[in-house]
Amino acid sequence: MENKMYDQVPTTEPQRQFYYMEKAKSYVEALAQQLGRRPTFCVTTFGCQMNARDSEKLTGILEKIGYEEADSEEADFVIYNTCTVRENANNKVWGRLGYLNTYKKHHPNMKIALCGCMMQEPEVIEKLQKSYRFVDLIFGTHNIYKFAELIVATFEQKGMVVDIWKDTDKIVEDLPVDRKYTFKSGVNIMFGCNNFCSYCIVPYVRGRERSRKPKDIIREIEHLVSDGVVEVMLLGQNVNSYGKNLEEPVTFAELLEEIEKIEGLERIRFMTSHPKDLSDELIEVMGKSKKICKHLHLPLQSGSSRILKEMNRHYDKEQYLILVDKIRKAVPDIALTTDIIVGFPGETEEDFLETMDVVKRVQYDSAFTFIYSKRTGTPAAAKEEQVPEDVVKDRFDRLLKEVQGCAAKKAEALTGKTEAVLVEEVNEQDSNLVTGRLSNNFVVHFPGAAELIGKIVNVKLKECKGFYFYGEAVE
Ligand code: 5AD
Ligand code: SF4
Repeated sequence: MENKMYDQVPTTEPQRQFYYMEKAKSYVEALAQQLGRRPTFCVTTFGCQMNARDSEKLTGILEKIGYEEADSEEADFVIYNTCTVRENANNKVWGRLGYLNTYKKHHPNMKIALCGCMMQEPEVIEKLQKSYRFVDLIFGTHNIYKFAELIVATFEQKGMVVDIWKDTDKIVEDLPVDRKYTFKSGVNIMFGCNNFCSYCIVPYVRGRERSRKPKDIIREIEHLVSDGVVEVMLLGQNVNSYGKNLEEPVTFAELLEEIEKIEGLERIRFMTSHPKDLSDELIEVMGKSKKICKHLHLPLQSGSSRILKEMNRHYDKEQYLILVDKIRKAVPDIALTTDIIVGFPGETEEDFLETMDVVKRVQYDSAFTFIYSKRTGTPAAAKEEQVPEDVVKDRFDRLLKEVQGCAAKKAEALTGKTEAVLVEEVNEQDSNLVTGRLSNNFVVHFPGAAELIGKIVNVKLKECKGFYFYGEAVE
């Protein structure tokens, strides 16, 4: 099946992938002839917003080559984009692969692909190659841009196609993407992570930090805005260290100032900030900005200076609290959210009480709380003093109660106010309502119709329901 546009396979990207997309298209067309219908696909995403954005890239390519999206995993091509940040993320994948195997036994033409963070772990690949031979394609986080080329390989090669890279310094621009929402989009500004927090597997599976060039980011956002996007979420494992490794270094604050100038863009969000790299310059830009949302996600992980040192976080309790004060002074109505790990090896009751103390003092608008999960290969996994399960559970429950009580108080304090809301969808339970988000990320439901989706509307927050509101649009 030769492609007429190219005499030979291009060696530069993204041209090479466009060549393979054409080639894949003819295989998919042949499959459609055989089935008497368009073949279908389903991409299932585990994990964070980075993975969600990667899935949009996978979907963009699948649609380009002629697959049609299915609404369940009973599809001709099922892709799992996996996460490995905690053990339970992996367990979910192993569990669901069992079901897929059964389904594939009755649908032998079906293709199954696995990609994402979990595939960067050598033990996972070994296990798949030994006991999960029904999987057709496995690739990792560094070569996701090669998806079209790898799909072609599954049509041309017998057996499992496996392509995993240890690391990369490559960033491939301008491949197709299919956005989940018309009016908002994630935008990668950097990939990888250099921090090596002692509990975290991310630096091992996502590789070294690499920033995209400002002009590529701006061009992408301008393009998104011309296509109807009003809100962007800038994505990176540690956005505060953006630009440090570029040929012409740029700070994250400088990048934000450039993005602010894009006409038609209404809201800017970003994720995730490491406290150690959050600069005064950034705080100043946030204070001045008209577009940066009044929300900062600032992972604490632990309130104990001793544990923070063991975690290799490079800040202590006092420095974190000073940072919070500075931010609140510059942006008084900002919502602060966080991530906290309970049960890090060697955590004592005193250490835990330090965490509780920070939570009480900062008064977070919401917090994600996690039970420590041992990740093979990380320095913390080698520590012997693991905290007993019942002790961890007890601390986790106490922490959860505290953060939930605080979040409810924060929401309650907003009741009666009128706020700008970006409408995201028709309410799933009640189609007379639409659901949207305030700048500070709180959710509100209010009477309205689908035409409002993607619009920014002023809404009076009439009733607080703990974590969300019922409201009413006002002129
Ligand atoms: N165990 C529990 N939670 C973890 N996180 C990262 N690694 C682990 C681990 N090994 C949490 C951190 C991080 C969030 C994305 O996941 O709180 O901020
Ligand atoms: Fe995201 Fe980390 Fe999970 Fe990968 S391992 S999906 S980067 S949270």
